[in-house]
Amino acid sequence: MLIHPPRFWNMMARSYARRPVQNQAAYEYKLDFTARHLSPQDCLLEIGCGTGTTALIHAPNVAHIDAIDYSSEMISIAREKANQQGVENVNFEVSAFDNWPIPAKDQQYDAILAMSVLHLVLDLDETLDRIRNSLKEGGLLFSSTVCLEGMEKYAIPALGAIGLLPKIRVLTQEVLVERMQAFGFSVEHKWRPENGSTAFIVAKNGGYCRWN
Ligand SMILES: C[S@@+](CC[C@H](N)C(=O)[O-])C[C@H]1O[C@@H](n2cnc3c(N)ncnc32)[C@H](O)[C@@H]1O
Repeated sequence: MLIHPPRFWNMMARSYARRPVQNQAAYEYKLDFTARHLSPQDCLLEIGCGTGTTALIHAPNVAHIDAIDYSSEMISIAREKANQQGVENVNFEVSAFDNWPIPAKDQQYDAILAMSVLHLVLDLDETLDRIRNSLKEGGLLFSSTVCLEGMEKYAIPALGAIGLLPKIRVLTQEVLVERMQAFGFSVEHKWRPENGSTAFIVAKNGGYCRWN
């Protein structure tokens, strides 16, 4: 692979921060749905938090958020924004999810956010397993994932294969749901904006994994 993913996202970080949200109505739908399922005592983990916008929006609704990203540039922008906004209950850390410690049973997270990230991870099954082990039983995974169903299934990964983009996993919504279920999640909600390539899937950790 020509592109080292954290370096790619470091290069992108400032322009990513300036770029307006692509589909504001869809973004608000996901924020609103998520916020309605959070409680003030909740501890959250956000994986691949980017410049921190989502974590900072949810911060007033919960007790604490660990928001991680393997791009140091993304995290420095997120920290700048938290300082400007006076938000103190979000811990922004530079870390790949693979290196983030799995909490002990009595410290598992109430909810995990994975927005625009599951199609980028190296090993989806390993990531879902780590998410399941990091979440309380009954805890919710809120995810928004690029699911490629049509011709884009060939075009976008091709850019990854020649090193112009980080590698993008070719996932359909059906496969993603199937993998989540295989790792003990029950899918509580699925939503996709009309003609959108991103699937919003909310899944509950049922504590059972058919691979163990
Ligand atoms: C498309 S951006 C999405 C950022 C943010 N979640 C959003 O919705 O705007 C993907 C982010 O995930 C980060 N990322 C990708 N894989 C990761 C991993 N395994 N661990 C931590 N961060 C990761 C990238 O550095 C990048 O900032």
